[in-house]
Amino acid sequence: MNSRKTPRHFLSLLDLSADEFRQLIVRASELKATLHAGRTQETLKGRTLAMIFEKSSTRTRVSFEAGMSQLGGHALFLSPRDTQLGRGEPIEDSARVLSRMVDCIMIRTFAHENLERFAAHSQVPVINALTDLLHPCQLLADMQTYFEHRGDIAGKQVAWIGDGNNMCHSYINAARLLNFSLNIACPEGYEPAAKILQPAADRCRIVSDPATAAAGADLIVTDVWASMGQEQEQLKRAKAFANYQVNEQLMALANPNALFMHCLPAHRGEEVSAEVIDGAQSLVWEEAENRLHAQKALLEMLILQ
Ligand code: CP
Ligand code: NVA
Repeated sequence: MNSRKTPRHFLSLLDLSADEFRQLIVRASELKATLHAGRTQETLKGRTLAMIFEKSSTRTRVSFEAGMSQLGGHALFLSPRDTQLGRGEPIEDSARVLSRMVDCIMIRTFAHENLERFAAHSQVPVINALTDLLHPCQLLADMQTYFEHRGDIAGKQVAWIGDGNNMCHSYINAARLLNFSLNIACPEGYEPAAKILQPAADRCRIVSDPATAAAGADLIVTDVWASMGQEQEQLKRAKAFANYQVNEQLMALANPNALFMHCLPAHRGEEVSAEVIDGAQSLVWEEAENRLHAQKALLEMLILQ
């Protein structure tokens, strides 16, 4: 068991330096090549990851669980339905107890503050596997995917089309670290949080419409119109976002070499047309696969620090 008293957490991309972000991408691509060559590297043999999911997941759960297994370790799935956390045991107590038993803890929850409270009382590294505010693990995979196809993203132009949500916030943080520019097209009232956007104002801006954001872009990204926890707003949001679909007309305004990404799950016919997500410029399946490789690199960095 890991007994460090000052663990290194990954609650936001800003917990990394730009160099560390790029090193993680290099390591993720190495781990990918190793796995594709049929070799294993048991760098986390005997280590355990606890995974707390208070929201649904397909990619995050499977990539962390398979990743730990491939590195020789073990992962435990913990749902609030079956643990005392779901019956009101304080977050702080849960953190103190779990972190005496495992080497790393991954959490997907609602309020970002709850993740921060958990991390403040954990003896082992805590990973943000999505909160209402941020989804940094997804950006490790997205940036790995971009670098693998186009090289370094520094100086490139990215367009975010849609909700100013946890994914948008994480793109803003990535733009700060990796030095790309980000045009954000979102309906009024759905802008990213000022506390996230303001420190990135030199390279991230809100533009009036999707066409302006997409013009000349090297990468176009979108996400669902209603995130987990916002299901009751679905109808209202569908109206507000009706002109924010990434379709072939929008892609045609971008750089001819532009790529399309979406963290998934996607809704064809809403935020993205079937032609785009299933088309030649879309990298969504590799983007999803890279969750596995990028998080293995992250787990090594945090656990073996
Ligand atoms: N992109 C993503 O985090 O997917 P899941 O919700 O399936 O984990
Ligand atoms: N913004 C989405 C991302 C899902 C991976 C959500 O929070 O539901």
